[in-house]
Amino acid sequence: MHIIITGGSSGIGAAVAEIETQRGAKVSIVARREEPLRGLRVQILARDPSAQIHTCAADVTDAAALANAIETCEKAFGPCDRLIAAAGIVEPGELISQDMESFRSQVETNLFGTVNAVRAVYSGMVQRQSGQIVILSSGSGLIGIHGYTAYCASKHALAGFAEALRQEAKPNGIAISICFPPDTDTQQLAAELPLRSPAAAAIIGNARPWPADRVARLIVKGADRGRFGIYPGLRMTLLGRFGALVAPVLRWYFDRKIASVRRSRDD
Ligand SMILES: NC(=O)c1ccc[n+]([C@@H]2O[C@H](COP(=O)([O-])OP(=O)(O)OC[C@H]3O[C@@H](n4cnc5c(N)ncnc54)[C@H](OP(=O)(O)O)[C@@H]3O)[C@@H](O)[C@H]2O)c1
Repeated sequence: MHIIITGGSSGIGAAVAEIETQRGAKVSIVARREEPLRGLRVQILARDPSAQIHTCAADVTDAAALANAIETCEKAFGPCDRLIAAAGIVEPGELISQDMESFRSQVETNLFGTVNAVRAVYSGMVQRQSGQIVILSSGSGLIGIHGYTAYCASKHALAGFAEALRQEAKPNGIAISICFPPDTDTQQLAAELPLRSPAAAAIIGNARPWPADRVARLIVKGADRGRFGIYPGLRMTLLGRFGALVAPVLRWYFDRKIASVRRSRDD
């Protein structure tokens, strides 16, 4: 089995790479920076010198470069059986103060970067009438969060993309999954937390972040079982299953939280 992971050099994607190489899969990882790619490769081979790991540097926002990288991966390890589209970025900021470049780059990476990765493997999967695609959204793809307009837009868009693609893909023997992780202990979260507004912190709460390998295990299990929605934890499961139903109550609750943060700031 050949698994290609975009954003596989760090965090959740790297944890999936660890699990899949341990299970004997051929794993290709794609990310922009060479050094973390090399580091992960060395780490995995130190644990198991027979692990089958291929790395390739590419930016998911560059469709042509990504298609080339994925072609290289497929030359090394054969056709892609499972794509994990994990490459993503977040730059919290309220719309009023966030520059358009930051807004655009989150949508370019999270939405178009995922679409580029899917398109690079999809026609081959259709020809073979088999394949699996796992898309990384976020809890921010299930609700709105103050100070995350760009990120929420990109992650909600992925939910719509996955819903529609599932219908197109299923008759072609291709399974689509989408995962909505809560806060997870990764480099992304470490960089994001200092920029999180007090209002966002009040909405999200202070639950301990999930370890990346725990989220990764659920992704692998969900993909193995061909599940569409993968929701780590009770909170994400309830939001995924009943989010639309309870949205008016959530909006009321979030507004109260935001008002309370503003009051204590003004005191
Ligand atoms: N951590 C959380 O709390 C959390 C919660 C919900 C959802 N998520 C989502 O889960 C996914 C993985 O996040 P993570 O927390 O594991 O992040 P991470 O540790 O920062 O890893 C992100 C990975 O994506 C790569 N990447 C970023 N931009 C890229 C680009 N333009 N082209 C190619 N690769 C790119 C990074 O490598 P390079 O920088 O070298 O390219 C790295 O390998 C993301 O989609 C994220 O939005 C994370």
